[in-house]
Amino acid sequence: MTFAMSVHQPPKSGARLGAFGERALAQFARAYPSASAGFAHELAGHPLLGLEALADAAARMDPRHVEVRAADNRNGEEFAFAAPEGAGAPDTIRAIGKAGRWVMLRFVEQLPEFEALLSDTLGEITPVIRAITGKPERLQGFIFISSPGTLTPFHFDPEFNILMQVSGRKYFTVYPPEAPWLTDEKQERFHRDGDNLLPWRTGDELAGWDNVLDPGDALYVPFKCPHWVRVGDQPSISLSLTWCSPASQAQNDAWRFNGWLRTRGIGAAPPAMGAPLTRAKALGWRALRRAGLAGTDI
Ligand SMILES: [Fe+2]
Repeated sequence: MTFAMSVHQPPKSGARLGAFGERALAQFARAYPSASAGFAHELAGHPLLGLEALADAAARMDPRHVEVRAADNRNGEEFAFAAPEGAGAPDTIRAIGKAGRWVMLRFVEQLPEFEALLSDTLGEITPVIRAITGKPERLQGFIFISSPGTLTPFHFDPEFNILMQVSGRKYFTVYPPEAPWLTDEKQERFHRDGDNLLPWRTGDELAGWDNVLDPGDALYVPFKCPHWVRVGDQPSISLSLTWCSPASQAQNDAWRFNGWLRTRGIGAAPPAMGAPLTRAKALGWRALRRAGLAGTDI
């Protein structure tokens, strides 16, 4: 699911409104695409991002895109689904302070008012993205509403991400997208089975880059950088914008192609981002899909 981007139009008064100031955009531009970076955002306090507005949004979204999971998790273990508090996810959101739950609104751009907010926000960063990695693709929005103390176990995501903290505090720890945290074998397997959780070893907590995110803080998380997240002692609300680049999409498809080969007994070299062989494998995967010879993308 994607949403269209609109070009950000500065207000005629000259006052700049929007998610990111010039300093934040410059900090993002210096880091993108490979380095993580923290910078400021202006969406904390936005009327769409309060608990009651989000409870209302959850009630109007496709139920398949509203996930409720347990808050009490450990790194290296599962991130289990849990029954909602009260009558459903909206009640869980309203009671998030004591619910012991993590609620995710996935593809929130399916609601027009959120589509407009996300489009405007992405319009601000698109010039930076386009200049460095080409036209952004598969633009998606997620909102996380979490009880105090929620731990999101160690995992990775196959996209670029800016997480904006709106309410409460998050401790967000990021790792390089490489072994021993993210191995080639795990990447190939992920694109077959969709399991993005990572194993956790003694000492891993000391190896990551720790970030403390309060309302108004944003964090750019590069493509596939492993991370784990812990919420402080107040309920947390975060908005996440994700996208892919033509090269990251090709690498994902090349991993899928490698997995397809492996199920037929053929091992293939890990696909390097932007390499000609990676693009060739991606074209191979897309041809297999069109011919009905491969499964769905993960
Ligand atoms: Fe994540």
